[in-house]
Amino acid sequence: MEKRIIVALDFSSAETALNLVDSLDPKLCRLKIGKELYTACGPDLLKQIQGRGFEVFLDLKFHDIPNTVAKAVNVAGNMGVWMLNVHASGGRLMMEAARDALLEFGSQRPKLIAVTVLTSLAQVDLIQVGIDRSPEEQVSKLAFLTREAGLDGVVCSAAETPLLRAQLPKDFCLVTPGIRRASDAVGDQKRIVGPLEAVRSGSDYLVVGRPITQADSPNEALLEFNSAIASVS
Ligand code: C5P
Repeated sequence: MEKRIIVALDFSSAETALNLVDSLDPKLCRLKIGKELYTACGPDLLKQIQGRGFEVFLDLKFHDIPNTVAKAVNVAGNMGVWMLNVHASGGRLMMEAARDALLEFGSQRPKLIAVTVLTSLAQVDLIQVGIDRSPEEQVSKLAFLTREAGLDGVVCSAAETPLLRAQLPKDFCLVTPGIRRASDAVGDQKRIVGPLEAVRSGSDYLVVGRPITQADSPNEALLEFNSAIASVS
């Protein structure tokens, strides 16, 4: 089975994170460690999670000068992460440096993806930072730049998935958050989509947080997500 579900470990302590991790099966999902958990617990917790058999998406969204990003990406490669990301707006040279920093890992190298436009930014926010394009045009432009720089894919909202899937090659990986079943609380997500719809419209991996992490039985919720997409997996 292709493990398409990436469970977001949005916690601030190792204890809470490991409680959840220990209720999940590494054969059924991958895990995402973001800025909150990594800032609190660092590489030690990453190693403990990997030691339990899980592949980890290190969601630190690097954005700096090319040399600094390349070095950080290389360290993440040495830690054996499965996937990591940078901001596409750091530019082509930064993305190429990040890509090259993983070459030494050969076929074992982590997948390297980029964030295009944060989904928290609307048109007015882009104008404030000097971007006159619509968010959709900017997403598309940065996704193409990511592809040209030789990265493996992008994080994109469910709303952007069909367009990007139509514009970009099949092997360009799309990773989509904002996934909810009909019965799930929407929370602060603005545009949500069901798991099956997300995969049908071209997502390769689905990032799911609260619908699994806050469920009475996280593993049961994970099984439900997996069975919802089993027909296209
Ligand atoms: O709990 P929920 O399913 O909303 O969590 C979604 C996860 O995906 C969180 O870790 C969130 O930071 C992340 N994410 C997102 N929207 C983006 C990028 C990342 O929700 N555009």
